[in-house]
Amino acid sequence: MTGTISSYISLLPLLSTVFTTLGASSPIEKRAEAPVKTGFNRVWWENWGHKDGIPHNWVYNLGTSYPGQVEQWGTGEIQTYTNKTENIRVVNKVLYITPKKVKDAKGKITWTSARLEGRKGNQWACADGKKMLVEASIKLGSASEAQQKGIWPAFWMLGDVFRDRGYKGWPEVGEIDIMESVNGLRQTWGLVHCGIYDGQKPIRGPCNEPDGKGGFVKGVGRGIWNTYGIEIDRTSKDWKTEKITWLINGVRRHSISGSEVNNATAWDFLAHRKMFILLNVAVGGGFPNGVEAAQTPFSTTIDGDNVGMQVDWVGVYQQI
Ligand SMILES: *[C@@H]1O[C@H](CO)[C@@H](O)[C@H](O)[C@H]1NC(C)=O
Ligand SMILES: *[C@@H]1O[C@H](CO)[C@@H](O)[C@H](O)[C@H]1NC(C)=O
Repeated sequence: MTGTISSYISLLPLLSTVFTTLGASSPIEKRAEAPVKTGFNRVWWENWGHKDGIPHNWVYNLGTSYPGQVEQWGTGEIQTYTNKTENIRVVNKVLYITPKKVKDAKGKITWTSARLEGRKGNQWACADGKKMLVEASIKLGSASEAQQKGIWPAFWMLGDVFRDRGYKGWPEVGEIDIMESVNGLRQTWGLVHCGIYDGQKPIRGPCNEPDGKGGFVKGVGRGIWNTYGIEIDRTSKDWKTEKITWLINGVRRHSISGSEVNNATAWDFLAHRKMFILLNVAVGGGFPNGVEAAQTPFSTTIDGDNVGMQVDWVGVYQQI
């Protein structure tokens, strides 16, 4: 999700990386509460039922950057994030993040949307020798592809040291994109970002920046509830054979091991250290532009709940 403005051309090779097709799997029902899981402690969960509302567990990321940091959130995305109910609200214990299109008197179009990051204190690491699951039940907007060009919902994590360092140090701090989808495609990506990247020089580092490493899944239904998750598996006790696996509706889809990142420091940031969760819908920017091979959003792109993201629950689970 984080990246550099010049990054979208080099995102294209992603289209040739490992992928699987979802095929016929039964979509998960809305259930309003993160389920308990055998063999795991549910260490934290969000059901959007707190009396003090969204800020109970989350902070709003507002505007077009972290204070004083790289503009357009580092990815070239064009929306301004707000905390207005037209962009973010909870209805019947479901979170709605909704992009809105605003036309000014001169006909100039601007976009607003919303982004949450877990409140400080809500960050977790997988214990040595154990597994950790981070999962959410999400419904992606079901408008047509033409109507969703440039719309970029995401459920992801960043290393907690990122905020300790004043929101500096990407990609070294580590990023796990649990679910990203762009342009209304029935396709979701799961990637890691880590190590080093210098947009001016061809330094791609252990996570092949700015593309990241990981995979994607085709055939993902939109307008239905699916659970998207990652499992960090440290049961092998050797960092090279530890794994991060992406799951949809509990089914393993693709994974990355320490040896594929092949840098102990970078892997430590990704798989051993505390991370916090983010939920957002961006508009425009490197990823949708790169996948579309064109500048997004298009004039056909619509706003509203049909291009937004709904989140039923989020859960973090530590293996017992
Ligand atoms: C929304 O953001 C504004 C700053 O733009 C702030 O003053 C206000 O308290 C925030 N409202 C909520 C509900 O967080
Ligand atoms: C591992 O990645 C770090 C950046 O996270 C880099 O500074 C270091 O040189 C890399 N080590 C090796 C052996 O490539």
